[in-house]
Amino acid sequence: MEVFTTISAIRSWLECHRKDADSIGFVPTMGALHEGHLELVRRSVKENDVTVVSIFVNPIQFNNKEDLAKYPRTLDTDLEMLRAAGCHAVFAPSAEEMYPEEVKEQYIFGPLETVMEGAFRPGHFHGVAVVVRRLFDIVEPARAYFGEKDYQQLRIIQALVKQLGLGVEIIPCPIVREADGLAMSSRNQRLSLPERAVAPVIHDTLSKVREMSREKTVEYLVNYATDRLNGVPGMSVEYFSIARTSDLQPLQHWPEPPEPCAAFVAVNLGRIRLIDNMMLYS
Ligand code: PAJ
Repeated sequence: MEVFTTISAIRSWLECHRKDADSIGFVPTMGALHEGHLELVRRSVKENDVTVVSIFVNPIQFNNKEDLAKYPRTLDTDLEMLRAAGCHAVFAPSAEEMYPEEVKEQYIFGPLETVMEGAFRPGHFHGVAVVVRRLFDIVEPARAYFGEKDYQQLRIIQALVKQLGLGVEIIPCPIVREADGLAMSSRNQRLSLPERAVAPVIHDTLSKVREMSREKTVEYLVNYATDRLNGVPGMSVEYFSIARTSDLQPLQHWPEPPEPCAAFVAVNLGRIRLIDNMMLYS
């Protein structure tokens, strides 16, 4: 497995593979890897000749300084895990390499970016779009793999690709969970033991909402879930939203005729912010 820190080095390595008409699969990450990331990598290894993973804690997508400063950085174990998963090349640039100048580009995603993560983390999706676009320009992958854990991010990336007419196929991958249901996340490492012990209530609440989704109103379920999660010591709900998967706009009533819907949640557990979601209709 090759490890590159500069754009010119990875570009020339990729050039050789492109000459051989190899297909390139790409998995962008911020490191502190877990099984959720590795599933994306394994899928890419299966579906492409060459798999590239980027590890870059992207400063411009953090709107909270403490979250950026404390984001786990575990490069050595990440590289071991990627080697074992069959990854061919890692791109781990510095912030100066990615952002040699002030960022000037602007992207507009309309209603997709005004709700949920877009509403509670101003500038977050702009930062994600800028870095993913630059990474796509460097790697020029045939396919790029994104987790449904960050469902709204996945939809933003799909919109970016469409808007710019990029030639990359976006492959959505299902959420990978711990045995007790907690969605895997690099931030889980930062939970205290008591926080980690109560965290599965997020998945349990989403599952209960799904079970009740045909019998109860949207309003009832949003109130039920918000009250249940706010009742957990140390937990406070930022949003709990039931939305169509097509436009992510919060619903007041179930759509008629039925359409694919999902429940989306963000909570703060102590000082750690966790997100999760679950499909309700399919
Ligand atoms: P990061 O949080 O490291 O996630 C990298 C990829 O792994 C994303 O596509 C994310 O959805 C996926 N992922 C994380 N946890 C997962 C889980 N439990 N199950 C399935 N997939 C999971 O998302 C980012 O980094 C950044 O915003 C990035 C796209 C790299 C841009 O900086």
